[in-house]
Amino acid sequence: MDFWTVRGGKKLYGSCRIQGSKNASLPILAASVLACGETELDCVPRLRDIDAALRILRHLGCRAEQDGNSLYIDARGLVHSCIPEDLMHEMRSSVIFMGALLARCGEARLSPPGGCRLGKRPIDLHLKALRQLGAEVEERGGEILCRAEKLRGTVIRLPFPSVGATENTMLAASAAEGETVIEGAAREPEIEALQDYLNAMGCRVCGAGTGRIVIEPRGPRGSVRFRIQPDRIAAATLACACAAAGGEIELLDAEPAHFSTVLHFLKEAGCDIITKQCCLTVRSDGRLRAVGTITTEPYPGFPTDAQPVLMAALLRAEGVTRIRETIFENRFRQVPELRKLGAEIRLEGQTAEIRGVAHLTGAELEATDLRGGAAMLVAGLTAEGETRVRDEGHIARGYERFDRVLSALGAEVRRTDS
Ligand code: UD1
Repeated sequence: MDFWTVRGGKKLYGSCRIQGSKNASLPILAASVLACGETELDCVPRLRDIDAALRILRHLGCRAEQDGNSLYIDARGLVHSCIPEDLMHEMRSSVIFMGALLARCGEARLSPPGGCRLGKRPIDLHLKALRQLGAEVEERGGEILCRAEKLRGTVIRLPFPSVGATENTMLAASAAEGETVIEGAAREPEIEALQDYLNAMGCRVCGAGTGRIVIEPRGPRGSVRFRIQPDRIAAATLACACAAAGGEIELLDAEPAHFSTVLHFLKEAGCDIITKQCCLTVRSDGRLRAVGTITTEPYPGFPTDAQPVLMAALLRAEGVTRIRETIFENRFRQVPELRKLGAEIRLEGQTAEIRGVAHLTGAELEATDLRGGAAMLVAGLTAEGETRVRDEGHIARGYERFDRVLSALGAEVRRTDS
């Protein structure tokens, strides 16, 4: 159990480097089982979800070593195609091993993945796409069994641009005979990172970043060294923290284009944002105004992952902001906790209405999920007195040394575990 203690009222000043992307690293770690040589990854964040992926790789028989933010993986010794339930349950992205193992071994046996409880998180689109590629998929006694003598390229139309289904399809298709086209693919930057990694190891994939991805039949060839892109949600969280607390911070090694929708709303709220190619400055006097209506959407729309932290930044903004959540059915779990600080938030179906209040007051909170937990810390930075967040380990699943990052910027934040 982690306990986070935040004493509010400090403005944030200084500069910090943005960690590597969790959501880009995890599918690439799954994809590394396809490599015919060694994989070296740079700028991988040190997080609980990354540890979980490394445990899965080791269980499968791969060598997987971590040295600071670098990872070394050698999948040539892979011997298993089955992932036990306890490893699957540690995070959502474990499901991407399904496509990767199917491509590598012609079979995969695993149970449904874990991850934040944000409502129903079905994987029907993943399974349908794998079946279309020629895999037999059976769901039996809480297990998923996939098998394919031969995978055959085809045209796959996703009815919704699911990130996970797009990734699983790309990986399985890399071992198929003939070309695969994914129509209606997710366009997230993490999909482009997966494409770049696959191409660096010798596959031929193009179109990532658009809704149409083409995977040509050319399997992986050699070793690869790859650098993970900056984490757009960690960057968005720090930008929201500064917007709420006030101050001026510089985010280095960031990719502002990857979270421009978040920056747009921070500007609307009254912050000064200066973006350069791979860094940005956020300046705020801490007195924000409401921004109308925000709707979460698949990329390039406003990211559902940034919704809780932007909500936290706007709790004291003058006026009324509405947030419509369209991706997950249960993504307002932070709301009852934020109300304990004095926030005025009304929930109606999938819309939250935030009426800015003059003051928030520190309280005892419980982190409900990864981004919800981060939102509580952001809100705590602006609350009077002390806020304590009890956390089963959600925040450390996605933010690398978040207490140190915030403290280096002048915040009073402590993390203790027991
Ligand atoms: C989601 C986010 C992604 C974020 C990631 C990590 C979207 C579209 N996706 O990806 O940006 O980085 O969380 O937090 O914002 N769905 C189905 N059937 C499926 C798969 C998905 O109905 O087989 C539905 C889900 O119920 C949900 C939506 O599609 O409503 C989002 O799914 P998806 O993109 O697959 O989620 P993640 O891959 O977890």
